[in-house]
Amino acid sequence: MVIDKGSPLFEAMGGMHNVYINSTGEAALKKGEQYPDKTVLLIDLHEFTISDGSYLEGPRKATAIMLKNKKKYASTGGWGFQAWAGGDPTKPFVTDPTKQCFECHQPKKDQDYVYSTYIPDPDGIRQHGAGGAPPCRRRHLRVLFSPHMSSYRSTEITHGTHRDV
Ligand code: HEC
Repeated sequence: MVIDKGSPLFEAMGGMHNVYINSTGEAALKKGEQYPDKTVLLIDLHEFTISDGSYLEGPRKATAIMLKNKKKYASTGGWGFQAWAGGDPTKPFVTDPTKQCFECHQPKKDQDYVYSTYIPDPDGIRQHGAGGAPPCRRRHLRVLFSPHMSSYRSTEITHGTHRDV
């Protein structure tokens, strides 16, 4: 989906969002159930330009993830939150996950704090948010995190723009 200047979310999250989920969470996404531990959801957030009504993907602004671990992250709904400026694994910027991330995901408690939902499409994730988002079709992801999620290594994202880092 795309959040543009018309949205109150623009400051925090303006840009073109591609959402991915790893295979651990896929069944839960499809059934709309609670996600198992080790589920990873990732947003790849890009700048964009508009040309003749087409939204064109620009440079990466940030990579943001949610990693499920019910025990470890009990105070934030069982999800660990982290994000990296420009997607740079050496530039994490979440220092207070409750304030910076979780509070805004709390309204989605009935969906295990996850906004995106599945659409019955071979590869589909529907994203909800400002402006009736078009479906997002990105899915596969394998990302390795350091123990405190201060850095990460993405090894595979099908259809995506990530490379080994
Ligand atoms: C201002 C509200 C807000 C804040 C703050 C926020 N999010 Fe989100 N987040 C959303 C919305 C709305 C979506 C779904 C739409 C989208 O972005 O594609 C979302 C989606 C996500 C997703 C994809 C899974 C899902 O829920 O659909 C991840 C991962 C994520 N956010 C991580 C983070 C992290 C990490 C932070 C803190 C740096 C954060 N978010 C802060 C509102 C917020």
